[in-house]
Amino acid sequence: MSKSALKAFKEKAPRKFDQQDWSSAYCNVEKELENVPLDLIKGEVPQELFGTLYRNGPGLLERGGQWIHHPFDGDGMISSMRFANGKVNFSNRFIRTQAWEEEQKAGRFLYRGVFGTNKSGGLIANIFDLRLKNIANTNVVKLGNKLLALWEAANPHALDPNSLETFGLSSLNGALAPKEALSAHPRFDPGHNNEPCMVTYSVKTGPKSSIRLMEFATENNNAGNIISDRKDTFNGFAFLHDFAITPNWAIFLQNSISFNPIPFILGQKGAAQCLSSQKNTQGKFLLIPRNSGVYAGENPKIFDAPSGFVFHHLNAWEDKNEVILESIYYNDFPSIGPKQDFRNIDFKALPEGQLKRCKINLSSGEIKTTTLSEQCCEFAMVNPNFLGLKARYSWMATAQKSEGNGPLQSIKKLDLITGNNYSWSAGERGFINEPLFVPKEYSNTEDDGWVLVVIWNGETRSSELVVLNAIDLEEKAVLKLPINHPYGLHGSWASSK
Ligand code: CO
Repeated sequence: MSKSALKAFKEKAPRKFDQQDWSSAYCNVEKELENVPLDLIKGEVPQELFGTLYRNGPGLLERGGQWIHHPFDGDGMISSMRFANGKVNFSNRFIRTQAWEEEQKAGRFLYRGVFGTNKSGGLIANIFDLRLKNIANTNVVKLGNKLLALWEAANPHALDPNSLETFGLSSLNGALAPKEALSAHPRFDPGHNNEPCMVTYSVKTGPKSSIRLMEFATENNNAGNIISDRKDTFNGFAFLHDFAITPNWAIFLQNSISFNPIPFILGQKGAAQCLSSQKNTQGKFLLIPRNSGVYAGENPKIFDAPSGFVFHHLNAWEDKNEVILESIYYNDFPSIGPKQDFRNIDFKALPEGQLKRCKINLSSGEIKTTTLSEQCCEFAMVNPNFLGLKARYSWMATAQKSEGNGPLQSIKKLDLITGNNYSWSAGERGFINEPLFVPKEYSNTEDDGWVLVVIWNGETRSSELVVLNAIDLEEKAVLKLPINHPYGLHGSWASSK
């Protein structure tokens, strides 16, 4: 076999990973630490990195001997990794949600989880109990002088950015009604229309769904105050986990999904398990004009979307009369069965995510779709200073092999124009979380910066923080974390400068 044929063969051959190496990351975090200096395993932490990496995700997976049904039902825990002078300090703290406090006292689950965790006591205890548990576990961002722990079906929790102490539920200075949903995926506009701001939304869903699009100041004394607010109503059920922004538009993909609440009401399934893809209807792109843009006050534009299901978008930008949206598409909605154990999931049986680009012609309604990367990926991002503009580079988590589904074990830097890429692997026994690109301060070079990622080392059964050079993914530093960190969801970087 020639060298190139051998390489192609090796890439196609399914690489083995040990299911136990992967699933052993799912463990309860038993301690809360404050400002613990991290030990270097190798390399050096770049002196220029000044700021804090915040991560959110499930930190509690079992209570009173009962395991949660799905990791998304795990109580939110915030970790902070503070970089200064080539050193990193670690803190972690559970968010003191009302449910966490009550269940901590009781020593057992008192609430049902949205992803199928039932409280103890069987069907009788769960039937007709429709209270949702705000577990604050999906994302964490800094807005003004507060951290917000986000969970998309309720108000956020506000926290102290240094001590990670929970202040309580936040209405964002009165902008949100009590119990109003707030997306876990705000987008930070770097200043397309004058001042930088945080753009986010609230969805009310039903046979008709409404999207409330909100923008919040992020600068100076005004930080945290709402500066723009509009509401639009659309036909059909809307499951909108994420969105994208350009200078003039907020762009949503309304997946073709239906919701049958009966098994939830009867205590047989969690609310999110009652979602299923609807084969006979088409997904829609919903483009809502931003109040700060040139189409302010106009009606939304609606276009048919290609088939497939999207959780996360990478980026969007405008080019004359086109809006271009890059997203991670799944062939189908990856539903979570009521009888499955998440630690034994069969990756091969689930659809993989692929990065695609859709060009939406605003005049003709024509949609052109191209696949940017076939390799299974998730958690993709561009340089935050290029959000909403045509960005050349993207960083994302990928499976180890080039085809099919698998656990996330590598990071890829993809040139979105040429398709050239670099990759870094955590190894056959390593597994990764969402990688974050941190731009180098005062640099105008798009890919100048670092990639920060928390990984699970299946060999040593411990967590590590890895720092890569964003340009070529060269490993700069590996540090040992003082806790075993379950796989998390999303996080963010807050610069100290
Ligand atoms: Co998400």
